[in-house]
Amino acid sequence: MFTGIKEMDSERNTKSERQMGLSDYLSMLKGHGAFGVVGAVVLALSIPILLSSVFTGKKKAKQRGVPADVGGEEGTAIRNAKFTKLVDASDGATTMAALFEQSCKKYSGDRFLGTRELIATDSITGSDGRKFEKLHLGEYQWETYGQVFVRVSNFASGLVKLGHDLESRVAIFADSRAEWFISFQGCFRQNLTVVTIYSSLGDEALIHSLNETQVSTVICDSKQLKKLSVVSSSLKTVKNMIYFDDAVASDLPTNISNCTVISFSEVENSGKSNPVDPVLPIKKDIAVIMYTSGSTGLPKGVMMTHGNIVATAAAVRTIVPDLGGNDVYLAYLPLAHVFELEAESVMLAAGASIGYGSALTLTDTSNKIKKGTMGDASALKPTVMASVPAILDRVRDGVLKKVDEKGGLTKKLFNFAFSRRLASIEGSWFCSWTLEKLLWDVIVFKKIRLILGGRIRLMLCGGAPLSGDTQRFINICMGAPIGQGYGLTETCAGGAFSEFDDTSVGRVGPPLPSGYIKLVSWEEGGYTTADKPMPRGEVVIGGASVTAGYFNNDAKTKEVYAVDENGMRWFYSGDIGRFHPDGVLEIIDRKKDIVKLQHGEYVSLGKVEAALSSSNYVDNIMVFADPYHSYCVALVVPTRQALENWAKGAGITYNEFSELCDKVEAVNEVQQSLSKEGKAVKLDKFEVPSKIKLVPEPWTPESGLVTAAFKLKREQLKARFKDELQKLYQ
Ligand SMILES: *[C@@H]1O[C@H](CO)[C@@H](O)[C@H](O)[C@H]1NC(C)=O
Ligand SMILES: *[C@@H]1O[C@H](CO)[C@@H](O)[C@H](O)[C@H]1NC(C)=O
Ligand SMILES: *[C@@H]1O[C@H](CO)[C@@H](O)[C@H](O)[C@H]1NC(C)=O
Ligand SMILES: *[C@@H]1O[C@H](CO)[C@@H](O)[C@H](O)[C@H]1NC(C)=O
Repeated sequence: MFTGIKEMDSERNTKSERQMGLSDYLSMLKGHGAFGVVGAVVLALSIPILLSSVFTGKKKAKQRGVPADVGGEEGTAIRNAKFTKLVDASDGATTMAALFEQSCKKYSGDRFLGTRELIATDSITGSDGRKFEKLHLGEYQWETYGQVFVRVSNFASGLVKLGHDLESRVAIFADSRAEWFISFQGCFRQNLTVVTIYSSLGDEALIHSLNETQVSTVICDSKQLKKLSVVSSSLKTVKNMIYFDDAVASDLPTNISNCTVISFSEVENSGKSNPVDPVLPIKKDIAVIMYTSGSTGLPKGVMMTHGNIVATAAAVRTIVPDLGGNDVYLAYLPLAHVFELEAESVMLAAGASIGYGSALTLTDTSNKIKKGTMGDASALKPTVMASVPAILDRVRDGVLKKVDEKGGLTKKLFNFAFSRRLASIEGSWFCSWTLEKLLWDVIVFKKIRLILGGRIRLMLCGGAPLSGDTQRFINICMGAPIGQGYGLTETCAGGAFSEFDDTSVGRVGPPLPSGYIKLVSWEEGGYTTADKPMPRGEVVIGGASVTAGYFNNDAKTKEVYAVDENGMRWFYSGDIGRFHPDGVLEIIDRKKDIVKLQHGEYVSLGKVEAALSSSNYVDNIMVFADPYHSYCVALVVPTRQALENWAKGAGITYNEFSELCDKVEAVNEVQQSLSKEGKAVKLDKFEVPSKIKLVPEPWTPESGLVTAAFKLKREQLKARFKDELQKLYQ
């Protein structure tokens, strides 16, 4: 009542829209008997909706980042507005070992790590003669914090008993699973440094990483053990190989010369009967040397201290609302990626449960899931998930495709519900109408949410910038806010993190409270801190998350890290950003992806790729600009279905998809679509590729052409398609 006048005001502004909305919706229902019940519900609900407009007015933008008195000569840094002091410990714990012990004591009887039981493996032969493995997986089996603590301690003792030289390092080379986490923590209880290596890394990079860090014990799964046995003669420092017990593993190569090969459970058991006192690390000891699948040359090892990992985890925990024992996290990204490693560390600090899955078994319709059985998300019903943009883009495309196929009323209803929710999220005038939201959730979005188990309350996203469209799509369809993180392996994933009440898109949030962010002018590229309306420049991150540098590579470390006069470490990210007036960072470009063309124009490859990706025909695209020419070109992996549909319509015949990709008509069609997208976002003429090549094979992390987070590996792509690129410039 006391907001009576304002309510009348908002009534006037929104009435026509609301009436239109409901009548449109009702007319859509007409003549559809099946929706009779829903219709009645709608009418019953529409009255309260009409009465319940909650007026909020235009809120002043909340100040999320503020200037901090650090940063030295290069200008003022921004810090998180809520914290005057850096967050660098989790309830007093400053090492991963201490954080682990603390959580295991606090949450001792609570569920911690969950693994699905393997019921059966079916081998299916596809139409092209290739064999596929389909898994029938059971319910999650849980171990409590207390039980995991015992296993970790046993494993640590087992390593000592095995004769692992405590001066040397341990590597983990495996997909994510409970034993990955247990090995990791086990090493820390003996102050061992863990080298992490992507399971998809090629032989040369694998040998390089293990040799460079002089690893003497490798922990792996049975698949990787076979890979290691093949290259074992090049692994001069490796003395022990510990493999995860696996129901399906048979004929394992356990006789590798000069190497003790032993199962994980044997190490645990021997540790159990030969307990050894822990040797705990301190904050500045190196916890992890993380090999990044960098976009150029051999991978580099980033040295992370215990303090780095804990600082980021503690800082993220301050941002994620009410994270705790009731939360269930679905872990399916590689733990060898800093983003997943930090996400699981946050769950550990909060006392949440972590259920392991994989990208290939995520949903009921995932590749490796046996038809009619449950994917990981259905079995776990997680409340929190982490993702990378490439995966969320795929979720979005998948849902839209399904909706499109159904067509008719389903499509209309979906589009309508979506636009209503979008208007309500983006409108600053009338905030959220709880009842209408509920209605759409029940009749439209509930089914979509069941794909991910139906209980997701928030998503964490990192690895690369997320497009605004996809962000909104997930917000609405999954009913969950997305916390977007910005950080790099070199800053232990810590950088900026978007706050959950910030409904804007395309921004990565204010600095995490574990650090500071400053912008440094890059005159040559045309980005300066004096730019209007917002300061722009290279993003430089300082504080507790900034790692110790690259292993065995002082030159490279000196190039991108600096220590200021107060002893604070800073990392020069190579990303270009700008700060909004509310202290929120937006990443707008990448330094090394900007190429100067023959006539002096700058082409930002990433920007152009992001813009052209919205074409229906584009599954993936790499824009290439040769500085000795005045135009750019592109390699495009076409969306197979879209191109084939077009070909059908245009009456073009072909045998193989690759043949279609070579057809001039197909190339022209895709090129026209790219020009249209380019025009729509006002790209300059020289920015739109003048010539393109269609590449039939998708780019996957296994092919080495994109990183595990699906970022383009430009150098590898350039090398692989050298001839094609050359032809495009002829
Ligand atoms: C292994 O490392 C040593 C130095 O530690 C180096 O001399 C040798 O060339 C490396 N071998 C391989 C295969 O990388
Ligand atoms: C095994 O170790 C011995 C002694 O260190 C060495 O001479 C031999 O070359 C090694 N064998 C292989 C296959 O690496
Ligand atoms: C292990 O391999 C070596 C040679 O590669 C062979 O002489 C030996 O008999 C093998 N041992 C077992 C137990 O198979
Ligand atoms: C942990 O190990 C590192 C490297 O071996 C060593 O420098 C450091 O002193 C150790 N820390 C403690 C607390 O023993």
